[in-house]
Amino acid sequence: MAPRKFHLAWFSNFSLDEWQQPFASGGGNPWNGRFHTEFAQALERACFDFMMLEDSLMLSEAYGGSTTHYLKHAIHVPKHDPVPLAAVIGSHTRHIGIVPTMSTLGYTPFLLARLAATIDHITEGRFGWNIVTSAEKHAAQNFGLDRMVEHDARYDMADEFMDVVNALFDSWDPDAVVMDRDRHIYADAAKVRPINYKGKYYSSRGPLNTAPSPQRRPTYVQAGGSPRGRDFAARHADCIVAAQVGVKSMKAFRDDIRERARRFGRNPDDIKVLYLFAPVLGETEEEAIAKNTRSMMSEAYMERAVGMFSALTDIDFSKFDLDKPLPELSTDGETTALKMFTQPGSGKPFRQLIREAGKATCVDVVGTPEQVADRMAAIMDEVGGDGFLIKHPFHLINRRYIHEITDGLVPALQRRGLVRTEYTQPTLRETLREF
Ligand SMILES: Cc1cc2nc3c(=O)[nH]c(=O)nc-3n(C[C@H](O)[C@H](O)[C@H](O)COP(=O)(O)O)c2cc1C
Repeated sequence: MAPRKFHLAWFSNFSLDEWQQPFASGGGNPWNGRFHTEFAQALERACFDFMMLEDSLMLSEAYGGSTTHYLKHAIHVPKHDPVPLAAVIGSHTRHIGIVPTMSTLGYTPFLLARLAATIDHITEGRFGWNIVTSAEKHAAQNFGLDRMVEHDARYDMADEFMDVVNALFDSWDPDAVVMDRDRHIYADAAKVRPINYKGKYYSSRGPLNTAPSPQRRPTYVQAGGSPRGRDFAARHADCIVAAQVGVKSMKAFRDDIRERARRFGRNPDDIKVLYLFAPVLGETEEEAIAKNTRSMMSEAYMERAVGMFSALTDIDFSKFDLDKPLPELSTDGETTALKMFTQPGSGKPFRQLIREAGKATCVDVVGTPEQVADRMAAIMDEVGGDGFLIKHPFHLINRRYIHEITDGLVPALQRRGLVRTEYTQPTLRETLREF
């Protein structure tokens, strides 16, 4: 029997490529989008379902109480807006989905729906939206708020945001554009309606002033990990990206999402769960292990990892002794990231936590392409599906790592019949639902 296929996507952002290491791409000018466009083309050659572009809306001061650490190490800065990049990538690729992040903090529903419809047209149905609420205090302050809205309330607001954008996407019937030459009618006014939405947080009159796009609504991607976040994701998402550590919690997470989806009256097979995965590859196992150890022991890796997790959780990790276990911590920022990083109850010294969790991967896998492919197959067998969200393990991306995946790991997976070897569907949503 042919093995059950799983999906591959890639987690990146419109940030710097690696600029200091021996095989760095250069980091000189990624800002014209060419580096990332070629990156997407490499992923398309390897038949990835989509490229996801993370985003945030602030320059952090969480680590050490200032911007110094972030600017010095270029952690999450500079970071450019991924939405125009998605349009550029879309016009230089044919099949791969492009999923930038847009925060409900920064957009009004009307503006977001209009932008999403526009780019869904430009990409001919390959546009996805990574739905986030933003979680950081500084992001809130950039939008004129004193502080971030509390965790669960952010999701309540986001639920309403989704109701409005969905109503706007439906404000044109699919067949509203008739282009009847004889009767001189472009669009049928009876098929385009205002939505007159008045909610607790958002209101919009509608209708949208864009033509209905190939997918009607962009493919929805989401990453809620908390109970409230999972409900949000199970209600709205076509694809959930997850940061659960260890095969057991990966499986439990997927089972839970599927159960929640059923409760919302959805078919759980319509929601694909992809797990963060940052394999380290070598021509031999020894080479891969040596590469992994060298990178994880480096000062640069430690500094980037603590800076990144401080930013995500708004916790100043510079305060803690590297040789002692961490105290119990809580955050109103990203609760799942905090758990991934601190491994509550483990009693491990802080230094070890950084080394173990700094890669932010669900399972730590190091080896040859053949070994990693076998491990991925075994993980998927145990978890039940639906695929992996690949990211670079040591924080900055270079062409060498991209090609280790696209020209080493992916062919090994393809030889086993585990991943896609061609695109057969016209839109991103249909690509995700193909298997
Ligand atoms: C793989 C992954 C990607 C994410 N991408 C972003 C992002 O680009 N921007 C952002 O503000 N939050 C991002 N998040 C955070 C989530 O949107 C969400 O806020 C976070 O998981 C906290 O939700 P929770 O408290 O329900 O777990 C991401 C999370 C994960 C696991």
